[in-house]
Amino acid sequence: MTPAPETSLQDIVSHAKEYGFVFPSSEIYDGLQAVYDYGQNGVELKNNLKNMWWKAMTQLNDNVVGIDAAIFMHPLTWKASGHVDGFNDPMIDNKDSKKRYRADQLLEGKAEQYANNGEAEKAQALLNEMGRLLGANDLEGVRSLIIAEDIKCPVSNTLNWTEVRQFNLMFSTQIGSVAEDSTTVYLRPETAQGIFVNFLNVQKSGRMKIPFGIAQIGKAFRNEIVAKQFIFRMREFEQMEMQFFVRPGTEMNWYEQWRDTRLKFHQAIGLPVSKLKFHIHEKLAHYANAAVDIEYQFPFGFREMEGIHSRTNFDLTQHQEFSKKKQQYFDNDLDENGKPFGNYIPYVVETSVGADRLFLAVFCNAFTKETSGEADGRPSETLKERTYLKLHPALAPYKAAILPITKKDGLPEKAREVEKLLKTEFRVFYEEKDAIGKRYTRQDLIGTPFCIAIDHQTLEDNTVTIRHRDTTEQERVHISELKAKIAYEVSEQRILELI
Ligand code: GAP
Repeated sequence: MTPAPETSLQDIVSHAKEYGFVFPSSEIYDGLQAVYDYGQNGVELKNNLKNMWWKAMTQLNDNVVGIDAAIFMHPLTWKASGHVDGFNDPMIDNKDSKKRYRADQLLEGKAEQYANNGEAEKAQALLNEMGRLLGANDLEGVRSLIIAEDIKCPVSNTLNWTEVRQFNLMFSTQIGSVAEDSTTVYLRPETAQGIFVNFLNVQKSGRMKIPFGIAQIGKAFRNEIVAKQFIFRMREFEQMEMQFFVRPGTEMNWYEQWRDTRLKFHQAIGLPVSKLKFHIHEKLAHYANAAVDIEYQFPFGFREMEGIHSRTNFDLTQHQEFSKKKQQYFDNDLDENGKPFGNYIPYVVETSVGADRLFLAVFCNAFTKETSGEADGRPSETLKERTYLKLHPALAPYKAAILPITKKDGLPEKAREVEKLLKTEFRVFYEEKDAIGKRYTRQDLIGTPFCIAIDHQTLEDNTVTIRHRDTTEQERVHISELKAKIAYEVSEQRILELI
């Protein structure tokens, strides 16, 4: 088998749509930009990923518990967190094409061009200058830099730019039925704040002792200016975040531990080491004292998949100030002088991964095109191309397909018996229609690891053929052994024990 050359994002988008993984939102009305729906197979894969993350956090760590906070929160939450005043992207419009861009992305693109031309120093100098100007909120300076760097609009090819404006990414709406009494609320731009405001509720009701973590999976919303690259950057997406509350002074140790644990998670679900890397932040947000991204090599290059931040006590301190409610923890452990550590606002290490970005990474990695026969020097007209999703069996939407080879001679009835045996334990697919080869192909395309064929021999000796997705090899197995055989291969344990 020879793997096909580079997969393009377009291959991924098409496959995801054609085989029921991801559809453009409200497509019959021509879609809504940067909003997507998960189809019948996509929702299963996404749920399996979320379930793995949830278990890796709350089952493997006895000091991490989960919550499910509401999307709407008191508006002061976002004032305290800094999102009302500071959750902005600098945008710029081209007057000729009327297209809108993120000013920082235009400059980053130019820096990437320099770097690709071997001008690394020039690239770094440009990024430094951009950082300086944005840090000083010198938006006119950012515009001048774009023009000085001769960055033209890719559509109109002109330098006819508007001024740069800060654009807040939060969506807002009104809560309350009477106009006069209504209040502006925001759709949360991150799930983390739902954890911070519940820190003491969980700590007290769960009698949690520091260090401990709170995990959450939920929707987040951002009015992204430039939304492209499929589900990589969406306006409605899902985050899986965990805030780990620690004693001040111990945060770097926990930060390093969580950074390494999170990398192990990505490897355990099947992402190869060669496609993962850390990107340490040189310039830190004002509230962080360390930050690193785990990047994955998407078809459009290495990009952030997960962020791990040491966020100091910034968020809890802000909430204490805005809510006027103490956010302290009493630590009765003894310090080196034998005195209790006493009251303090805990420091926080955050791990934050987008469920959709993780989905995209896993999907891109699984997408496999192979040509058989090339290595044997066979003539091109006899070469066979095969596309399949090489998903970890524990993540696959269906664990097995049950396929009677014909619709008659009692084979469907026997196959239904096999289905009944398996379906209380695994998600299985049953199908009678079309030739068996076609049915194998359909299962390959959605990543089903096992196809179980029921044939005439099954009626005689209760054996079936298992066909393995990745090798296409087939083996004969007694029906009584089926459950155990599949159970091991598709077990979540195989992932969890690697973390
Ligand atoms: N609480 C920290 C936080 O929200 P972030 O870097 O803005 O940090 C964390 O987001 C993760 O959420 C990212 O690493 C990414 O996986 C995901 N994410 C952020 N914006 C996204 C978007 N517009 N579409 C899809 N995923 C997004």
